[in-house]
Amino acid sequence: MTQARLPRRRFLTRSAVAATGMFAMPSILRAAPARQELHVAAIGVNGMGWSDLSNVGSHASVKFVGFCDIDAARFDKADAAFVGVPHFADYRQLLADLGAKVDAVIVSTPDHMHAPIAMAAMKLGKHVYCQKPLTHTVWESRQMRLLATQKKLTTQMGNQIHSNAEYRQGVRLIQEGVIGKVREVHSWVGVQGRQHCNRTDRPADAPIPKGVNWDLWLGAAPVREFAADVYHPFKWRDWQDFGSGALGDFGCHILDPVFTALEIQAPISIEAANGGTTSEVWPGPETVTFEFPGTKYTLGSTIKVIWRDGGLKPPAELAQLPAGVDLPGAGSLFIGEGGVMVLPHVASPLLYPQEKYADMKLPDVKGTSHWHDWVDAVISGQKTTDGFEYAGPLSETVQLGNIAARLPGTKLQWNTETMAITGHDSAAAMLTKSYRPGFEVEAVV
Ligand SMILES: NC(=O)c1ccc[n+]([C@@H]2O[C@H](COP(=O)([O-])OP(=O)(O)OC[C@H]3O[C@@H](n4cnc5c(N)ncnc54)[C@H](O)[C@@H]3O)[C@@H](O)[C@H]2O)c1
Repeated sequence: MTQARLPRRRFLTRSAVAATGMFAMPSILRAAPARQELHVAAIGVNGMGWSDLSNVGSHASVKFVGFCDIDAARFDKADAAFVGVPHFADYRQLLADLGAKVDAVIVSTPDHMHAPIAMAAMKLGKHVYCQKPLTHTVWESRQMRLLATQKKLTTQMGNQIHSNAEYRQGVRLIQEGVIGKVREVHSWVGVQGRQHCNRTDRPADAPIPKGVNWDLWLGAAPVREFAADVYHPFKWRDWQDFGSGALGDFGCHILDPVFTALEIQAPISIEAANGGTTSEVWPGPETVTFEFPGTKYTLGSTIKVIWRDGGLKPPAELAQLPAGVDLPGAGSLFIGEGGVMVLPHVASPLLYPQEKYADMKLPDVKGTSHWHDWVDAVISGQKTTDGFEYAGPLSETVQLGNIAARLPGTKLQWNTETMAITGHDSAAAMLTKSYRPGFEVEAVV
């Protein structure tokens, strides 16, 4: 399918212009290699935003036309690397003021603002690179996917390890049947809620630092008082109103090669176990069991993918590890008919039992830059492998896990066609949320 194109004027490469003889050019420009310029705006320019914009900006065709951050003190790195780019505090102002000067937008804000910002940009026809998890709710992930498809935009979720050689090797081994059809997958990460686990209160307020626009930081979320060293920066991820807990933080990374390798898309049931949760923060150690319809890479009509975080790991004996070897701190364990594959987060896959795979050479698979892949795809009007058509269902799954996490011990039945959690009204209500006026996300019709 042809994707939305950049404005034609930016497609005229220097060599193409020279060839048409449209106007005389200095010889230095005539000799220069063909270039196409992509005008990018970055929203959230520090933390992961810095990593995103510096990687996107290292592409020779990228020119930044706007930087947006709600914290005036956090532009320093971006400004030092890309001099003279206009600043904005409010993404709505950036989009309104820059208009057609922007071709593409990077969204690297806390999770609760991904959808309001990315949907506003996509409505205007901008291509989007958006951090993981794609969105804060299941419904938002569905809308992001629908709008990207409807507008024929080139999109990419920011789970950059998707494009690493190690994850691609793991995918290749599974799809080549090296361990046979897959019977079950276990995925895990060590982290849990970083410091606010099991908290029920909201910390006392504190003066808002000069330069921080707390109202814009809250954005779509219900108003609450500012508190120092609790939300902004980074620590928001523990709080249900803003972040998505350990599962949201790492699920879109670690479950990504599971989704790609097995070609699974939407679970049919989800059940969580944890030590209890509060209405404010995400739970501590948890296990979430997802059941998916089987695919040509799996054994049986359904397959279980079992997620653990907060220090929980699958039983090591499932991996048939050699003596003295332990499971890595994070990763996935694929249990196949003929052997097992451990795919650490992030390192090359390991195959067991060791004797069986001793002579096995890992496939020579190259990694690429996830950020440059997106830029190249935007310029050439192609799709990426991690566009919202793929990333939407992955993020929906992660956020379904977070609904289950709030109702531990309840097996939820999910119908992806009708977007319904059947027979459980309070779970169904968590598929979406309400928005503060001015930051709404509209349904795609
Ligand atoms: N892919 C990865 O490996 C990876 C790693 C870390 C974080 N992340 C993701 O990146 C995103 C940001 O996480 P972080 O840890 O960098 O958070 P952070 O709080 O450290 O940084 C967010 C930045 O965005 C700014 N910001 C906040 N709200 C904004 C708004 N409404 N408009 C404009 N700017 C705003 C903040 O001032 C800050 O500079 C999250 O979605 C997170 O899940 C991804």
